[in-house]
Amino acid sequence: LAKIEIKIGEIPEGKNMTFKWRGKPLFVRHRAPEEIEKEGSVDLSTLRDPQHDRERAQRPEWLVLIGVCTHLGCVPIANSGDYGGYYCPCHGSHYDASGRIRKGPAPLNLEIPYYEFTDDETLVVG
Ligand code: FES
Repeated sequence: LAKIEIKIGEIPEGKNMTFKWRGKPLFVRHRAPEEIEKEGSVDLSTLRDPQHDRERAQRPEWLVLIGVCTHLGCVPIANSGDYGGYYCPCHGSHYDASGRIRKGPAPLNLEIPYYEFTDDETLVVG
């Protein structure tokens, strides 16, 4: 099946870039140290779909997500919402900077596709 290769050196820290992969938006977020620290220290008992940030990012500075809201499939907006990660304007779901659902109607965290880093500069999704 189709894979996409992304040169991560072109994505500056603090930025979320959107690609298209298998007909869906793919988010690649270059996280800053403060964001990694913050998401790593969230109390899992406060989460609707409890997952530690460690389980969601192979390399802490890179978050790779399918950009489809788990409520009814709209595309969330990056760097917005009450938790600074993603906000879905369709019915108001707020996701954190680990892509975890924090508030609003969505039942699950944003999905993480299969991916690997083939070298320091290259991310391959699919
Ligand atoms: Fe995102 Fe409903 S589709 S909140």
